[in-house]
Amino acid sequence: MIRLSNVSKTYGSGPSAVSALKNVDLHVPHGSIHGVIGLSGAGKSTLIRCVNMLERPSAGRVEVDGQDLTALPNDRLNQARHRIGMIFQHFNLLASRTVYRNVALPLELMHMKSAAIRERVEPLLELVGLTDKADQYPAQLSGGQKQRVAIARALASRPKVLLCDEATSALDPQTTRSILELLQDINRKLGLTILLITHEMEVVKSICHRVGLISDGELVEEADVGDFFTAPATRLGREFLNAFLQLEPPKGLIDRLEETPGPRTHPVVRLAFRGDAVSTPLISRLARESGVDVSILQAKVESIQDRTLGLMIAELIGTADKTDEALAYLERHDLHVEVLGHVQRDA
Ligand SMILES: Nc1ncnc2c1ncn2[C@@H]1O[C@H](COP(=O)(O)OP(=O)(O)O)[C@@H](O)[C@H]1O
Ligand SMILES: [Mg+2]
Repeated sequence: MIRLSNVSKTYGSGPSAVSALKNVDLHVPHGSIHGVIGLSGAGKSTLIRCVNMLERPSAGRVEVDGQDLTALPNDRLNQARHRIGMIFQHFNLLASRTVYRNVALPLELMHMKSAAIRERVEPLLELVGLTDKADQYPAQLSGGQKQRVAIARALASRPKVLLCDEATSALDPQTTRSILELLQDINRKLGLTILLITHEMEVVKSICHRVGLISDGELVEEADVGDFFTAPATRLGREFLNAFLQLEPPKGLIDRLEETPGPRTHPVVRLAFRGDAVSTPLISRLARESGVDVSILQAKVESIQDRTLGLMIAELIGTADKTDEALAYLERHDLHVEVLGHVQRDA
């Protein structure tokens, strides 16, 4: 539904040029919810604005619903944009218009008749739960209600794609959840393809099917959300995950971690369990069968949509032979094992 091929974007020129996107390839299939996460300044807004040509890419191709937008002249581009809705962090409503007239605006611009506009706007207000607020002004609404108006407005032209630029970043956690549920509902009911960018792992965890990680203008990894939360492929991905899970070895231990094993060290590991492994008593079996002692430093269980993920940081205490055997045992049982380092055994 959305396909970016080798898209680059440079702002300005000469020595002050900023290379905001570098050779980005991205495919979002029809009906999916795709997240792109990254730190501030990574190029997220530039990426999403290139999808509807609010920013023209400096190079590369942008296709939406089979149409190459980069090849379209401006008048045809305006037509094509009706197929792409967008919502923003700060809602961007018109203060002088009521809720009803904010939602009607794109249809007025398309010169639709007022009866036809009413036929579109009323069900949309119902969909977002704001039928009783139709005659109120944005200033009378909460942040969550304003975003609901923006969503209804974005859907007015019956788009195939909805772009969300940090749509929940200005909202409190509870309101965030309700807006994410609404987006999920719209995705399911209308089959709408959603591309959202965010700096919040919670957003990705709650509703995305796949996620891309953007760093300094480059898409550095892409994965199904379950895989990303189990074992991110990049260091930045692991930093995002660890900050989100708050699952780090104790500070005192981090300072003692050495990269390479020595004659009197033992490994500290991060284990991620999925599926059946979550409910199997692997750790006690491991201790029994391989003869190592397992000292659990931290553990938690997370629900990632309909899946359960167990995470643990543990020290494996035993001779090198036995700890090697223990690591092999864990890997055989489908655990994701990451050796964080090695610590000296107490004398
Ligand atoms: N209109 C612009 N002119 C010049 N530089 C810009 C412009 N918009 C964004 N940038 C720069 O491009 C980079 C990516 O910005 P942006 O896409 O807004 O990142 P994000 O949304 O991830 O915070 C940043 O270095 C930013 O300063
Ligand atoms: Mg941004």
